[in-house]
Amino acid sequence: MTNTAIEMHMARTGPATVLKAREVTLAPPGPGEARVAIEATGIAFADVVMRQGLYPGVRTPVTPGYDLVGRIEALGAGVEGFAVGQRVAALTVTGSYASRRNIEARWLVPAPEDAPAEKLVAGVLNGLTAWQMFSRIAVAAPGETVLVHGAAGGVGNLLLAMARNAGVKAVGTASAGKRGVVEGLGATHIDYRSGDLVERIRAASDGGVVAAYDHIGGKHLKAVSIAALRQGGMAVLYGGYDATRGGKVRPGAIIDMLLNNSLSAMKLFGVSQGVVGYNVSYWRDARLEAYRTDLAAVLGQIVSGALDPLIGKVLPLTEAAEGHRLLETSAVAGKIVLKP
Ligand SMILES: NC(=O)c1ccc[n+]([C@@H]2O[C@H](COP(=O)([O-])OP(=O)(O)OC[C@H]3O[C@@H](n4cnc5c(N)ncnc54)[C@H](OP(=O)(O)O)[C@@H]3O)[C@@H](O)[C@H]2O)c1
Repeated sequence: MTNTAIEMHMARTGPATVLKAREVTLAPPGPGEARVAIEATGIAFADVVMRQGLYPGVRTPVTPGYDLVGRIEALGAGVEGFAVGQRVAALTVTGSYASRRNIEARWLVPAPEDAPAEKLVAGVLNGLTAWQMFSRIAVAAPGETVLVHGAAGGVGNLLLAMARNAGVKAVGTASAGKRGVVEGLGATHIDYRSGDLVERIRAASDGGVVAAYDHIGGKHLKAVSIAALRQGGMAVLYGGYDATRGGKVRPGAIIDMLLNNSLSAMKLFGVSQGVVGYNVSYWRDARLEAYRTDLAAVLGQIVSGALDPLIGKVLPLTEAAEGHRLLETSAVAGKIVLKP
């Protein structure tokens, strides 16, 4: 067993260039752990937020890497149900910008053999997030309409595909240049930068959506997502994109999130609407069986072709900084993947 690994590590916060390659020596996997040789890991918006020092609970020095697909090289004591050589996937939160790593085996899910690693890894953080929000948190019936913000992004493109597969109509917001991506996934495109956003969403959804998936946060949640709901609708807040963009917490942004969105339960009751927060890693930790079932379901849909995650760029692991630059500038549609 090889005990050395290359990692893209951040000793401190700062620009993308703080990501530096380093060689580390790994201890043998401990009890309950597996050693995984990594085939692919995704670049997540959360990694950028960690690099900026704004991610709750994660401080530098840290090796980022929210997910992985790879192959088990060794098992620690007490690990059952997995074998050396088996292909696996996991939501790891940190540590997967690496050629190999040790990981708690309880986070592992068997990964199918017959799909490229970059497609499968796009199903881990992004696919699991999209699937749990779509199938468990805010569910639409065939013929109803949902609102997907950032519809050409890593999570957004999968939400559109899931809606299409379920016979659910989707309205997708994205910048003008990504219209083709959104329409190619069967959704109605709306450029969020031009005016009358809510009016246009309501017009495109015959009077309002039954679910809105919002990664922007701040005032946007109430002013756009909740405003676009029909009675009985549900808004899901799953990101704070605007609060952290540009490497700084925009003055007031967090306060906007906490205060300006203050919602009256009585008012929501009156229109039978709901607002819910969703965080994929909290779900993994609190509902392990749901995590395993749902991640296996997403990987299965990728192999069957029901889901074909949009891959924006595949880069060598050592070009992680370029991947961060592409993500931060919204330069590509779909997932950016690193391969050791
Ligand atoms: N809660 C969770 O468990 C969880 C899990 C995964 C991801 N997330 C969050 O979800 C978000 C998206 O992640 P991702 O990987 O899909 O990122 P991504 O690939 O960068 O997609 C997000 C896209 O949103 C678009 N956008 C920016 N401002 C917008 C606005 N005002 N309205 C509509 N679209 C806008 C941008 O593209 P254009 O401007 O070019 O259209 C951007 O590329 C991030 O904030 C991430 O942290 C949360």
